[in-house]
Amino acid sequence: MRILGISGSLRADSLNTRLLRLAAEELPDGVELEVYGELAEIPPFDHDLVDLAPDSVERLKDAIASSDGLLVATPEYNGSVPGQLKNALDWVSRPLADNPARAKPVAVIGASTSSFGGVWAQRELKKVLGILGARVLDVELPIAKADVRLADPDPELRSEVAAAVDALVDEASRTREPASLSI
Ligand SMILES: Cc1cc2nc3c(=O)[nH]c(=O)nc-3n(C[C@H](O)[C@H](O)[C@H](O)COP(=O)(O)O)c2cc1C
Repeated sequence: MRILGISGSLRADSLNTRLLRLAAEELPDGVELEVYGELAEIPPFDHDLVDLAPDSVERLKDAIASSDGLLVATPEYNGSVPGQLKNALDWVSRPLADNPARAKPVAVIGASTSSFGGVWAQRELKKVLGILGARVLDVELPIAKADVRLADPDPELRSEVAAAVDALVDEASRTREPASLSI
């Protein structure tokens, strides 16, 4: 099974990207997590171009389509979803009826240096993904003071991350297309 990890941060030393790497250490057997690394390449959304989407957008859509589930780790900027992440999802959302996030199991987590862990951004992101038709898990993992907690992840943090990953893998296993039967 292949999970696509998407970090909403472009920062080289992003705590949210680090959180995805921590999740990659907590995967059950048989599950791989690939971290998407081209968010900065996505241009501003232009509805006139949806039928002729840039290659970077097509690559993102293909990566989502070929995954069994998404693990999105988002920062919170001024109480909401980072603009570049929302912009990428606007591209992904069109055409709406067959966008690759539709019916895709998704867990949203996030890390923040604040005391609240970016919970508003995670809730808003879940709303956006729900509008795309994703199967958004009822998981909350706002990691507060993440600069401290992710510097040396303790067993409690590891088990919180593992629980989110397990919930995603369970949902992805339930909804995965059955392997084609050979006769
Ligand atoms: C423009 C900006 C706005 C921010 N607004 C919030 C906020 O509303 N809530 C919050 O918890 N943290 C906020 N932060 C702090 C981020 O949580 C912190 O910078 C975090 O490390 C960003 O994630 P990253 O390390 O993955 O880049 C903000 C940071 C920036 C740069």
